Amino acid sequence: LKKISSQFYKKRTPIVAMSYKNYLNKPEEVGLLVEEIILGLKESKTEFMECFLFPSMGTIETVARFCKGSNLGFGAQNIAPQKNGAYTGEFSIESLIALGGRYVELGHFERKTLFFETNQQIKEKIHLTLSESMIPVLCIGETIKCEGQMLEEILMEQLKELLSEINEEKVVNVILAYEPGWAIGQAKPASIAHIHRSHTCIRRCCERLFTKEIAEHIRIIYGGSVSLTEVSEIVDHQEVDGVFVGRFGHEVNQFLEIIQRVSQMKEE
Ligand code: PGA
Repeated sequence: LKKISSQFYKKRTPIVAMSYKNYLNKPEEVGLLVEEIILGLKESKTEFMECFLFPSMGTIETVARFCKGSNLGFGAQNIAPQKNGAYTGEFSIESLIALGGRYVELGHFERKTLFFETNQQIKEKIHLTLSESMIPVLCIGETIKCEGQMLEEILMEQLKELLSEINEEKVVNVILAYEPGWAIGQAKPASIAHIHRSHTCIRRCCERLFTKEIAEHIRIIYGGSVSLTEVSEIVDHQEVDGVFVGRFGHEVNQFLEIIQRVSQMKEE
């Protein structure tokens, strides 16, 4: 069994993702940053990795233009629950597809706390994303710091509610982002031990919900105050498939260095 699982583990492509949230909103400025990132990626030996960006909505078209034909993917930080219709003010997955994006960030802590997004809405968006052959990056995690059984119950509950109706063929395309609410927007990420334990726990929950084989395919990345300082330690665990970067990736050199560190740790 061990052999099988390590085989699957090797097949999981490492990820470095980043969200600009609503920090960087001017198309021209963001265009310059993205251009630099793409140039940096070209010069690095990181083709075996998957790197992508969630720009703020008003800059998505600019980002799409720069990303075309490059090693950098992009996605939307949110979508409307249906492809089109009476959803004033929302962003349609149709636009994302037309622009060449592949990823949809869903269930982020800020969407839930600031905009009261419910699990029902998140579920609808996951289903829409998968039915359009796009990749959901689904955020899960506890709001208040906890450990052990309590944490496992919270994570299992979230996974069950959000994923249990998805068929096994499709669920392997979901990327899970473990983002404990209390670790977002801080000076430091959650402790390395906490991150590693939580990722192991999430993998175990996926196994219980689906099968061992399916659980081994799902990529789980960590997000919440990720910076260059801790990134190598964070990904130095077989259940951590990458990181989701926020503020500490705004500087292009920092972001490129984070990618470099992850690639060094995950190189086969
Ligand atoms: P942060 O954001 O690194 O700025 O805390 C991370 C996130 O919310 O994904």
